[in-house]
Amino acid sequence: MTSKIRKAVFPVAGLGTRFLPATKANPKEMLTVVDKPLIQYAAEEAVNAGIKELIFVTSSSKRAIEDHFDKNYELEAELERKGKTELLDIVRSVVPNDVSCIYVRQPEALGLGHAVLCAAPIVGDEPFAVILADDLIYTGKNCVLGQMVSVYNDRECSILGVEEVPADETDRYGIVDPGESDGRITKLKSIVEKPRPEDARSNLAVVGRYVLNPRIFEHLVDIPRGAGGEIQLTDAIEQLLQDEAVLAYRFEGKRYDCGSKMGYLQATIEHALLHPDLREEFLEYLVTEFGQRAKKFLHAIND
Ligand code: UTP
Repeated sequence: MTSKIRKAVFPVAGLGTRFLPATKANPKEMLTVVDKPLIQYAAEEAVNAGIKELIFVTSSSKRAIEDHFDKNYELEAELERKGKTELLDIVRSVVPNDVSCIYVRQPEALGLGHAVLCAAPIVGDEPFAVILADDLIYTGKNCVLGQMVSVYNDRECSILGVEEVPADETDRYGIVDPGESDGRITKLKSIVEKPRPEDARSNLAVVGRYVLNPRIFEHLVDIPRGAGGEIQLTDAIEQLLQDEAVLAYRFEGKRYDCGSKMGYLQATIEHALLHPDLREEFLEYLVTEFGQRAKKFLHAIND
């Protein structure tokens, strides 16, 4: 069966303030986990889910993302001249040949909902995926977007990737009011952006994976600014619920919130342990040396 989801939107126009000064001139999505920038993990997930058009919503400080997915003639010629075929393959396979990259600007960081709306003329009247690259999700085999696309192909409803978060962290996420469930799939009753823990209907939080019907654009055009003064995708989804069913999908996989320093550090360490060239040496280092070294280091700087 051919997939109904051919396009993915990557909103990468946020300011990335939690990573300043690193993100002053460099995009947060170009932060590297071991040897790949976050945005490449996200693009690979989309490609693995069968997506053929990658639509990046960028801003003025995000040029590096366009360069990353573009051909680098000089580098390729140099690697070819030196016979470094393995590296050449790595550089050339950043995006497969049958996948295209399209860029659109968000002139002002008015919020995630506004960023998605900026992609409307390119998405057109068809369902599409949204991936937030700073939520890096490890699954081993079937990537989260692949899981969600399968559900969409079957049900044709908008789907939000969700997971349970600690009850005192609801004010960092869009939080779902869950209705009837069928395995990993739950029908949404409502959704609220960043509710205080005492107001939250559940601790089921939306993370950075969505499959949306194009009707979402009609609501994104109309909604006023919401939490944090931003145009919130969550608010448009709450409106969409008045027209059609929306599903929450409890994905299989381990998520790293790479928009926060702690999540980014955890992702880096655990992806080093997943990396075939590093795994053994790094594990040996962590288990036998790291604790001692850390103690010595802290003693030395405190003296
Ligand atoms: P975040 O809420 O993580 O915001 O955005 P941010 O600006 O990237 O980071 P902090 O909180 O200041 O550190 C979630 C996603 O939505 C995109 C971001 O690039 C990120 O991928 N986004 C957010 C936009 O593209 N445009 C916006 O106006 C806001």
